[in-house]
Formats: sequence, structure tokens, C-alpha cells
Amino acid sequence: MDRVKGKSCIVTGAALGIGRACAERLAEEGGAVAIFDLHDTEGEAVAAALRAKGARARYWHVDVADEAAVKKAVDEAAAEFGGLHVLVNNAGISGSTKLTHEITEAEWDRVQAVNVKGVLFCSKHTIPHMKAAGHGSIINLSSIYGLVGAPDVPAYHASKGAVRLMSKTDAMCYAADRIRVNSVHPGFIWTPMVEGHLKASGATREGVGSLHPLGHMGDVDDIAWGVVYLASDESKFVTGAELAIDGGYTA
Ligand code: NAI
Repeated sequence: MDRVKGKSCIVTGAALGIGRACAERLAEEGGAVAIFDLHDTEGEAVAAALRAKGARARYWHVDVADEAAVKKAVDEAAAEFGGLHVLVNNAGISGSTKLTHEITEAEWDRVQAVNVKGVLFCSKHTIPHMKAAGHGSIINLSSIYGLVGAPDVPAYHASKGAVRLMSKTDAMCYAADRIRVNSVHPGFIWTPMVEGHLKASGATREGVGSLHPLGHMGDVDDIAWGVVYLASDESKFVTGAELAIDGGYTA
């Protein structure tokens, strides 16, 4: 309880999956939560459920790849919650599964637009509010695929590698402003994204689980608790770090 009390948080892609769990755990720990997503019904439902439990929460329809929409929503959230202190850049897509010799420019660009430019735009427009508050914590969802290679989804790998290094650079650029920036690298977590990916590739949940030394896939709260730690003052000396929550996949 109260690990992020008094902090206003944006969680992108919080209508489903990992982002939704992050929004729920941050709200339980006392944070006000702005939910940015494209899925209006689910996003409104998450916000309503959090409010029913006594939290401050509101949903905004935002495509993180649309800079003007991001700026508008970020400024509205800051006004509504009285500042911004935590940004969880979670929204992401796996995108095209085509290999390098097959992928089209448009397919490649859409993955980078959501996964890389989305992180850029949300960070760019939230940082001024964090500077005004005198502190902040940005948590960027990369992946095990931002740490190691696999014969799979090259556009996604490229995007998650970029997010890892964007996190380290921003950690250095904004340390003097007391804004911490860290990346989280999940192993395979059972969410709508992974369900779709496994269906398309013919892989099984058990088979993918066995790639992790702990022998199974993770669940959304395994990631959300790591995000709560990085959002809270418990991690006040942690910046530029990469937190692998992956059942040992990259060990
Ligand atoms: P998901 O597909 O289950 O949920 C993603 C959410 O982001 C959805 O609510 C979706 O509507 C939203 N979203 C997608 N594009 C958006 C956009 N342009 N603007 C705003 N919202 C958008 O995905 P999941 O599995 O929860 O993944 C969350 C993050 O964690 C992603 O960045 C993903 O790359 C990363 N990740 C997930 C892993 C997994 O095994 N599930 C493993 C490693 C990383």
C-alpha cells in the first residue's frame, strides 16, 4: 500500500495485458493513473474499475505514434492530476513477423512508429512536467528481444533494442533533473499480444514456457511489480538500469 502515494502516473497501452496490470498495481499503491490506449471500451472499463476502488483514474484515447495527440493528452493529464511524476511507456506491437529479406518499408515503419517514436513522443512531452515537479521516473518496456537475438520478428527486435539505448541516454541526460529512466525486459508473458503471436507461429504455451530456465511463461503481475518498484522511491538510486524479468531467459 502507498508505495507511489501522491504520484501521478501515465501508463500507455493500459487497456489490456501488461499495461493494464501496471495501471492496477500503481493505483492500488496510491498513484493517480492516466490510461492511454486505442481500445476505448476496455480502457474506459479499466479506469472505471480503478475509480470504483477509490483511485483517481481516467482514460484517454491516444495513438502514441501521433505526436499531437500525445501532447494534448499528456497536458490534459497533468492539468487533471496536478503534475506528472511517473511515465510507463508500455504500448507496443509485435507487428510483422516477416524476415529482413521479405519485410516492406511500411511494415517496418509501423513497428518503429509505435514502439520507438511512441516512447519518444510520450517522454518528450512528459519530461517538462517532471522537470516542473522536480523529479520523475520513466519506465520503458523493452523486451528480452531488446537484449538478445532470436530468429523471429526483426522489426520488433530493432525497436526494442532502440528502446533499451534510448532509456540509457535519457537516464544520463535527465539525471540532473532528478528524472530516472530505466528499461524493463520481460520474457514471454501471457497477454493478447503473445496469444496472437503463438497462434500465428504455431508454437505452444508450454513450448515457449520451456525456453525459460524457470520452466514457464510469466504473468502480467510479474512485470507490474517491477514497474511499481521503479516508479517508487524504493528505487531512488536506480537509473539507466535494465531490469530483466524473464525467468532466467537472458541469464
Ligand atoms: P498487448 O498487445 O497485450 O497490449 C498492448 C496494449 O497497447 C493494448 O491495449 C493496445 O491497444 C495498446 N496499444 C497498441 N498500440 C498502441 C498505440 N499506437 N497507441 C496506444 N496504445 C496502443 O501487449 P503486451 O503483451 O501487454 O505488451 C506490453 C508491452 O510489453 C509491449 O511494449 C511489448 O512489446 C512488451 N513486451 C511484452 C512481452 C510479452 O510476452 N507479452 C514480452 C516482452 C515485451
